[in-house]
Amino acid sequence: MTMLQNTPAQLTGFPMVDEDPEQHRFRVHRDAMTSPEVFRAEIERIFHRCWLYVGHESEVAKPGDYVRRPLGNRPVFMVRGVKTGQVHVFHNTCTHRGAVVCRQKSGNAKVFQCFYHAWTFDSEGKLSGMPGREAYGDKLDFGALGLKSVARVASYRGFVFACFDPDVEPLVDYLAGAREYLDLIVDSADGEMEIVSGTNEYCIDANWKLLAENSYDGYHALPTHDTYFKYLVALGTDLSGGVAGTVRDLGNGHAVLEYAAPWGRPIAKWEPLFGEGARDEIATLRAALVQRHGEARASRMTDTNRNMVIFPNLVVNDIMAVTVRTFMPSAPDKMDVTAWQLAPAGELPQLRQRRLDSFLTFLGPAGFATPDDVEALESCQQGFNSGGVQWNDISRGMAREPQGDDEAQMRAFWRRWQQRMGEAGYQEAGR
Ligand code: FES
Ligand code: FE
Repeated sequence: MTMLQNTPAQLTGFPMVDEDPEQHRFRVHRDAMTSPEVFRAEIERIFHRCWLYVGHESEVAKPGDYVRRPLGNRPVFMVRGVKTGQVHVFHNTCTHRGAVVCRQKSGNAKVFQCFYHAWTFDSEGKLSGMPGREAYGDKLDFGALGLKSVARVASYRGFVFACFDPDVEPLVDYLAGAREYLDLIVDSADGEMEIVSGTNEYCIDANWKLLAENSYDGYHALPTHDTYFKYLVALGTDLSGGVAGTVRDLGNGHAVLEYAAPWGRPIAKWEPLFGEGARDEIATLRAALVQRHGEARASRMTDTNRNMVIFPNLVVNDIMAVTVRTFMPSAPDKMDVTAWQLAPAGELPQLRQRRLDSFLTFLGPAGFATPDDVEALESCQQGFNSGGVQWNDISRGMAREPQGDDEAQMRAFWRRWQQRMGEAGYQEAGR
């Protein structure tokens, strides 16, 4: 793909985010979405310094379970140690001469044997064997040749994060206000949630930040997803309440859009799509939630949606199903997206089925939403290449108390982005 004709950004001191509250102006320079220099600096300053979501503890439920993941464009793998039961996240590179040690996407193993010269590491990362050990004599420090853990690994309510920066703040502080929203999801399932096996993986020819924006963009819902809303109405869903709601800046670049659910929610909100037979079942679920959490919190759990972005690249959308989604840039105009479905562990099969149907109907790669969103994002990226316009406008709602279809949540993201990137600074050449 050709890059836009704009002058590329250079590492100096230029703010790509231009904010003037008095003038209700908030603009983001399109170089932020197209420049290779920005992309390289983002990997270093954001993806290598922020806490990044690796996976969910339920994916490595048993000792020896592992999953291979890209983390900030680096191969890592998460494994539950057989001896300690602890969840490790290791750099996926052999300490001998570099080969990737964990080559399967997921599985269960007591040991990981490098295929190149067959050095073997146990599930706690310790070097446990090699062919022809006597050739090394007795001076080599075998203890120091274990797999290297990513600098910081921590978990919150089952969500495992890692960070390459040893000096990063503790995860609980980093998550800031986002914790309350993760709590709400996990508490609604009595604390036991699991990733449903199987993932959605797809690429989008657009800058990764466009998907962060899109994930909690209430403004686009009605025009972009018109077909889905018509489909719901045809099924008898009442959409007269719209999708209006509120947005909250959760600190550290995280933000959430919360709004009344116009559709059903498998946790306990019935809709025609679920079928008449499910009405009683859903009513029972709802009554149990009210009993456990009180009417107000139970109503929030059942009747409202939340679209949340945890900076920089974790989306947890608690809507007609709970989707966990990450996206990694592979180029300024390309990203790899992975999405999982999170559900209460031990859920009844018919409820699980309903949840999966809801998930795929709207959020699946061939659902009502995702292809529309992908098209919109790729269209924006193509539009950037047209040149002539240098700034994106993200000021909606600055002139009023921001509502659910405003852009305050994106402004929270971009301020943090600028802060991270601006630590060393940027300047557009020749300005
Ligand atoms: Fe792994 Fe040689 S590179 S054993
Ligand atoms: Fe959308």
